[in-house]
Amino acid sequence: MTKGEYDVVLLPGDGTGPEVVREGRKVLEALLENSSSRLHLTEVQGGAQYYKAHGSEWEPGGRERAVKADAILLGAVGWPGVNLPDGNIAGHGLVLGMRSGLDLYSNVRPCKLRPGVLHRIGKEFKQVWRPQDVDMTMFRENTEGLYAPAHGELTRGGTTEVVLDTRIITLKGSERIIRRAFEKARATPRGAPEDGARRVTCVDKSNVLKGCQFFRATFDRIGKEEFPEIERDYAYVDAFTQWLIRQPEHYHVVVTTNMMGDIVTDLASSLQGGMGFAAGGNIGDEHGMFEPVHGSAPKYAGKNQVNPIATFEAVGMMLDWLGERFHDRELIALRDRLEASVTRVLAEGSARTYDQGGNATTSEAGDRVAAAVREDRAAKGPGKLEMAA
Ligand code: IPM
Ligand code: MN
Repeated sequence: MTKGEYDVVLLPGDGTGPEVVREGRKVLEALLENSSSRLHLTEVQGGAQYYKAHGSEWEPGGRERAVKADAILLGAVGWPGVNLPDGNIAGHGLVLGMRSGLDLYSNVRPCKLRPGVLHRIGKEFKQVWRPQDVDMTMFRENTEGLYAPAHGELTRGGTTEVVLDTRIITLKGSERIIRRAFEKARATPRGAPEDGARRVTCVDKSNVLKGCQFFRATFDRIGKEEFPEIERDYAYVDAFTQWLIRQPEHYHVVVTTNMMGDIVTDLASSLQGGMGFAAGGNIGDEHGMFEPVHGSAPKYAGKNQVNPIATFEAVGMMLDWLGERFHDRELIALRDRLEASVTRVLAEGSARTYDQGGNATTSEAGDRVAAAVREDRAAKGPGKLEMAA
């Protein structure tokens, strides 16, 4: 069903989160001008700084509004020295709480390098990998593994002697993330940059860990039975870290468990120009929450310096997900327009923030992409959208 009207909750959160969400909103509003799609944007305050000031992680009723929304755009959470009584970072509820509370079991993190983006290796900014060699999507299991709430400690006579983090790998959790990964491989017209093969790589440590042996066996079974035309590929996580950097062109879709996915997706962001470009979708069967992966970056908070591109990528993923979910081709067309605009601005190098060796501010980069969106509409006209509708 096409709704045409959608409720989107913005959760700016902490540190640089509000700065990038502000730019995301700017670009989204530029996209929505003259569009028949209506996205109603509501901001909800919360996170560690909110907790510090008010003693709760969410503004009153905020969590309920986020749960009811059609989609959520999250900035970042976390602030040094602000923790919950249980020791978790304050703001935990907005990220990990929503991931488990809304059963957002797929953490989908595309890693694509666009022309014009530089790599910072050592002190230099230069292009190390070629854009045509970096185009993969990582699927990180998002509700279990080492993040499952199976932690504990043994304290005797006031001394903590043993702490435990238990890694939970379930049949249901493994099957569903593995299926989403194979479906992605099946749905993409082109496979890995290296050879065009549609390939899913299972990243694990099955030479040592029981849970990984089970994860890999499940991967094999689902791959063989349900996706026989997709190539199955395997990597131990330690070896994977160097193959990823040395031969990114081999990878098309990658699937892995929660903690390993946390680590390898940060590493993968180096290929795409750094954390300023990495976006992720936390996706379940009923809910979606989209975010830049970079975190709250306290050092840069309030300075209008960080790169907002990852947030624009997150907005694009959100439009894509909403468009698919509600069969709304106008949203897909808006996603395409955003994609074309970001690609153009990056190729021109006209909005390089400090992490790219440039001096554009966060808001200038947002202005530039919003302008590109309007220019794209002026050049192509609304006709493209009507045709798509
Ligand atoms: C991420 C982050 C989170 C995680 C933190 C903020 C809890 O690092 O989204 O990758 O560990 O999953
Ligand atoms: Mn992380």
